[in-house]
Amino acid sequence: MADAYILGIESSCDETAAAVVRSGEKVVSNVVFSQIATHQSFGGVVPELASREHLKAIVPVVREALADARQNYQSIDALAVTQGPGLAGSLLVGISHAKALAFALDKPLIAVNHLEGHIHAVLLEERQKEGFFPSEQKLRFPVLALVVSGGHTHLYLAQQRSESWSYENIGHTRDDAAGEAFDKVAKLLALGYPGGPIIDKLSAHGDPTAAKFQPSQIKHPDRRHKRQGLENAERPAIDFSYSGIKTAVLRYIETHGLQRAIDERSRALSKVARPKLENYLAHCDKQTLDLVASFQRAMVDDLVGKTLAAARAYNAATLFVTGGVAANNELRQRFEREAAMEGLPVYFPSRPLSTDNAAMIAAAAYPKFLIRQFASLDFSAEAGMALK
Ligand code: KG4
Ligand code: ZN
Repeated sequence: MADAYILGIESSCDETAAAVVRSGEKVVSNVVFSQIATHQSFGGVVPELASREHLKAIVPVVREALADARQNYQSIDALAVTQGPGLAGSLLVGISHAKALAFALDKPLIAVNHLEGHIHAVLLEERQKEGFFPSEQKLRFPVLALVVSGGHTHLYLAQQRSESWSYENIGHTRDDAAGEAFDKVAKLLALGYPGGPIIDKLSAHGDPTAAKFQPSQIKHPDRRHKRQGLENAERPAIDFSYSGIKTAVLRYIETHGLQRAIDERSRALSKVARPKLENYLAHCDKQTLDLVASFQRAMVDDLVGKTLAAARAYNAATLFVTGGVAANNELRQRFEREAAMEGLPVYFPSRPLSTDNAAMIAAAAYPKFLIRQFASLDFSAEAGMALK
């Protein structure tokens, strides 16, 4: 079969992104316009501002992705766009643009679930590295995928039958997502937005055993496991909960009298245009660095522990870890070490493909392109879209 060039468009949250991917295996261009500067002073994404920024950015971002790929509107074979989950107003900008292009160009349009995009980022990465993914030869199923980002902490069992992929959700967060916890803790400590990357870097300078934090454990049995016929004893606690750890950090700040230092840091860093690690380090005392490292350690312990427990309970043969938080250094090292101890191969996307991007959307669209699973032009955004 001839190569297929798919133009992917992603606008589910605060990144306007477009990319061209060849046959689900090669990123030909990948443009990500981040709105961080817009949302930074609010310490989180403001949905109304996000849609406005997407509207401004979508046309130049798509044009740039085509130009970088030495493609044009006529030469691409299909378009792919994120249908959900995400912010409704933001999703609609990408969807409307993709529909208009598909209609005007008379090209097929493929609607993609954002979470499936994150999973296919792993496959895309491996195909790029190897020229092909072990998939076709030796990728063993079921694959257990941890999708861990600012909006999601989900565990999926993934299967592939000929070109079709199917997913079963076997765990999710009951409240905050893991990335949201990183962002909220960073906000409490005046460490800027998004919180994950800076907490990741600062943690290397603190003692992760200094303070004890533990994310809440979900105890009550979950009906989904009964349906799958697992015995009680085998039923792992695979749901996540991260709103309590943020409150525990707040309590730690209060009981250890850290608020004054936080206010001073906030004042000092507000004078620096784009604070770098050195600026943060200059304004963080040992106690703060220890707190940050201990928080990260607790998050990593929980994510790795529950994912590996799920892998054992469901006899997963391969592990994928993907989404913005998968960029975290300690998380990657721990997964690599502990999965290896269990003889479980583990794969991550590179850091640029871990956080939101459109290459993953174009890659996830390719199997659907092969089986001609095209969207009709009347589909709409699905803010709470489930992955099946
Ligand atoms: O996948 P993503 O770009 O967007 C969503 O779909 O949510 O993920 C963004 C999230 C943010 O919460 C950010 O703080 C987190 O990923 N993140 C990290 C790291 N890099 C990004 N969290 C921990 N360590 C990192 N290195
Ligand atoms: Zn995402």
